[in-house]
Amino acid sequence: MADNSATARHVRQALGTRSIVMVGMMGCGKSAIGRRLANALDLKFVDADDEIEKAAGMSISEIFQQLGEQHFRDGERRVIARLLAGGPQVLSTGGGAYMSEETRDRVRTAGIAVWLKAELPILMKRVMRRDNRPLLKTHNPEARMRELLDIRSPIYAEADITIESREVAHDVIVGEILNKLAAQPVERPAGA
Ligand code: S3P
Repeated sequence: MADNSATARHVRQALGTRSIVMVGMMGCGKSAIGRRLANALDLKFVDADDEIEKAAGMSISEIFQQLGEQHFRDGERRVIARLLAGGPQVLSTGGGAYMSEETRDRVRTAGIAVWLKAELPILMKRVMRRDNRPLLKTHNPEARMRELLDIRSPIYAEADITIESREVAHDVIVGEILNKLAAQPVERPAGA
């Protein structure tokens, strides 16, 4: 297992009260990697989708089904705004969250965005393991994913750092994130 502890200490210190915000497509590994990253940094891990479900008292599928996507997006924006006030932490966001300009602005102010970039075949392999994503309840989930990937990638690319999510041990990816954060500290002017 890679020893990331010295780099982790350095990154943790430079982070201050900011959050590391995991962004990227469904299936890119935001929660799995985010949880391990939090562990390496000795920070709490928070999953925005779980918090949205808690706040609504419903599953994401139920919110989409009964109240519609727009309602979900409004709740998502509000919940992420609230969570961002709770740093330092590692915050994993749902695949569509970073599409909101308001959310991107908030992340820029209170966090550092990490895009876990993955190729379509890897994403498909992972998302098809579970049946919990309302956007993929269509006759051709792969076409839907490709469409979302094309639309969203240029926006995910606004993240502070980009990491290729691929089929290697999670610790390898965590190590890459820590190294990139250490080598390329994200400074924000005071009050930005
Ligand atoms: C969505 C991704 C999901 C969840 C919702 C919508 C999206 O989260 O927020 O189903 O728009 O890509 P994950 O990215 O964690 O699967």
